[in-house]
Amino acid sequence: MEVLVINGSPRKQRGATHGVISLFVDGMKEAGAEVEIIYSRALEIGDCRGCYNCWGVTPGKCIQDDDMTEVLEKFASSDIVVLATPVYVDGMTGSLKTLLDRCIPLLHGEFEIRDDHCRHPLRLHVRKGKLVLISVSGFTEIDNFDSLVTHVKALCKNMSREYAGAVLRPIAWAMQGAKEQGVQLDDIYEAVTQAGRELISNGSMNKETLELIAREYMPRDVAVEIMQSAFKSK
Ligand SMILES: Cc1cc2nc3c(=O)[nH]c(=O)nc-3n(C[C@H](O)[C@H](O)[C@H](O)COP(=O)(O)O)c2cc1C
Repeated sequence: MEVLVINGSPRKQRGATHGVISLFVDGMKEAGAEVEIIYSRALEIGDCRGCYNCWGVTPGKCIQDDDMTEVLEKFASSDIVVLATPVYVDGMTGSLKTLLDRCIPLLHGEFEIRDDHCRHPLRLHVRKGKLVLISVSGFTEIDNFDSLVTHVKALCKNMSREYAGAVLRPIAWAMQGAKEQGVQLDDIYEAVTQAGRELISNGSMNKETLELIAREYMPRDVAVEIMQSAFKSK
């Protein structure tokens, strides 16, 4: 099974997103998946120009000759695409959104009706695989992911990908510090790896596993205190 992981964090391998991805990828590989990780911020990907040449003039091909050509091939041939991003202003990061905008050559320009909605059909060479969201946030409440999850579910419908769930880790920035203070997080780390295993072995992730990943490890008022002392006088 081929998996493409797209890390949208500008902090790339230094970020909290990467920490979650690494554990998840370990689990997927243990279960037999072939995994490739790419970093949207490390690629040269111009903004979609909205010219629709990829639908009318050069069907399936963008007029821009940049790293997106290779990304489109990988996206089209992946059984599972994992979109990974920190929450940025209640959504995904700009570089990941830019990459997704540039995926329209995978679709035909014409409309068809699916699920009682107008959609674009997938081009023949594009797999109808699954899509998973991995996200981390700065705030503590799980509902900070709501708008991002809604967006990703909607884009799955438009891109004919089956939404296979979300690995969400609130207040991810404090995990390193919590560990140093002796707060036990091993069950969370193990659950992330377990979610990767479950996805490949069962095609889905267990609700209990995903809830464990998102569990509270620091009371909200402690998080507020940490941020007050870090930034109040600045
Ligand atoms: C520009 C920007 C916008 C952010 N917006 C939000 C937000 O809307 N909600 C939230 O919970 N965290 C927000 N954060 C915090 C990040 O989601 C959080 O620090 C995350 O752990 C960063 O992941 P990374 O280390 O992989 O980059 C924002 C951070 C930045 C830099």
